[in-house]
Amino acid sequence: MKIERLPPVRTSLGHTNHPYMTGAWTPLHEEVNAWDLEVLEGAIPADLDGVYLRNTENPVHAPLGRYHPFDGDGMIHQIEFRAGTAAYRNRFVRTRGFEAEQEAGESLWGGLADGPGTSKRPGFGAHGSLKDTASTDIVVHAGEAIATFYQCGEAYRLDPLTLENLGVAAWAPLDGVSAHPKVDEETGELLFFNYSKHAPYMHYGVVDATGKRTVYQAIDLPGPRLPHDMAFTKNWSILNDLPVFWDHNLLERDIHAVRLHKGVPSRFGLVPRHGGEVKWFEAAPTYVLHWLNAYEEGDEVVLDGYFQENPTPRPLEDAPEGHGHLMAYLDEHSFRPKLHRWRFNLVTGETTEQRLDDRILEFGMFNQQFAGKPYRYAYSTTAKPGWFLFNGFVKHDLVSGESWSITLPEGRYASEAPFAPRVGAVDEDDGYLISFIIDENRGTSECLIVDAKRFAVVCRLALPHKLSSGTHSIWAGRERLRA
Ligand SMILES: [Fe+2]
Repeated sequence: MKIERLPPVRTSLGHTNHPYMTGAWTPLHEEVNAWDLEVLEGAIPADLDGVYLRNTENPVHAPLGRYHPFDGDGMIHQIEFRAGTAAYRNRFVRTRGFEAEQEAGESLWGGLADGPGTSKRPGFGAHGSLKDTASTDIVVHAGEAIATFYQCGEAYRLDPLTLENLGVAAWAPLDGVSAHPKVDEETGELLFFNYSKHAPYMHYGVVDATGKRTVYQAIDLPGPRLPHDMAFTKNWSILNDLPVFWDHNLLERDIHAVRLHKGVPSRFGLVPRHGGEVKWFEAAPTYVLHWLNAYEEGDEVVLDGYFQENPTPRPLEDAPEGHGHLMAYLDEHSFRPKLHRWRFNLVTGETTEQRLDDRILEFGMFNQQFAGKPYRYAYSTTAKPGWFLFNGFVKHDLVSGESWSITLPEGRYASEAPFAPRVGAVDEDDGYLISFIIDENRGTSECLIVDAKRFAVVCRLALPHKLSSGTHSIWAGRERLRA
């Protein structure tokens, strides 16, 4: 493996025992380019052509208060496959906050778990006191990678091949862009939403295939909400108003405390794709971090996602002292997300719901060529009990009801594993899942390639350094890497 190291970033982070700054969450500060990655097992498929992009959270300065892993600075890791070869590179997202703290040599913003007044400068997004770290999500639109922040931020652009930072997206509105903008590969459109603490509390927008914002519509909500993800079909975008949101009375004192509001239903807003009157549907109360796909079937709009059985869990009892609350909200086995299907009947206005699997699953992926359309195969992740760490994958055939699993050995943790269609693929599941592994037993990282049809590992590649865990990832085929 050939490695080129970039000049180091300025860091003031000292020793810590924080459970989400150690082990598989140890921040990485090194930026490199690497070629000729060593094949540890199997062979690199010659019909894999494009990039896998992974966003992770890496704090570079000692926190001002209580660290939460979602406070860390965004770093994009990329592996590029071409003609049976693989190259790797990684870069911090040079957000305004990252640059300001590089200049200051210290943290300037408090985090999600901190009280009012911790930040030394005004913050960004819905919360208002946080740094926009662009560390949550990554998509590819109009030939550019777009890194976004879950509390709404400026949407940072990077070249998906070189990872050169290209600045903020001109189409991002004043209230910012939430994580999980959706790209429709068929139309080239990007669909997004944002949320805030001031009326109308939410907006919906569309950016066309050339990067021009063509729709920006207010979505009236009863108050500040905490939506995280959206979905779309051919004719509808699906937004949500779920009963887990900041306590209104505490919010008046600038305290951001999340509560389950008992007796309040889940609400789903179906917005015509290019703007118009919202059709609202009610459903059983829950919180949903991530949706899978959505599609239209007769009079119904079908939405799949992960229904949380216990969205406001009690503190984790065996957590390190002082971290029980934080760790419970990061532990899928505490909030218990289950694969679930909602059907919204456009004629009757009724919602019907169905549990599709009783296992604890989240962070689902599917073939993006089927986004917004009827689809058959979903790929979810499993999590290590007590931890925000993925320890396996489950493939579902949503038509037959069959499923298949891959479980990683103890100490090996995966990243979100998007589906990469094989060049020349015909079938929906004809392709690969790509994931980065953190091996705590060896102190190394690898790239794992899974044949999605056979659901078996076909290749393992050595990466030049050990990554930190993080949140979201994306695959973009070669044809999507240039505008
Ligand atoms: Fe997310």
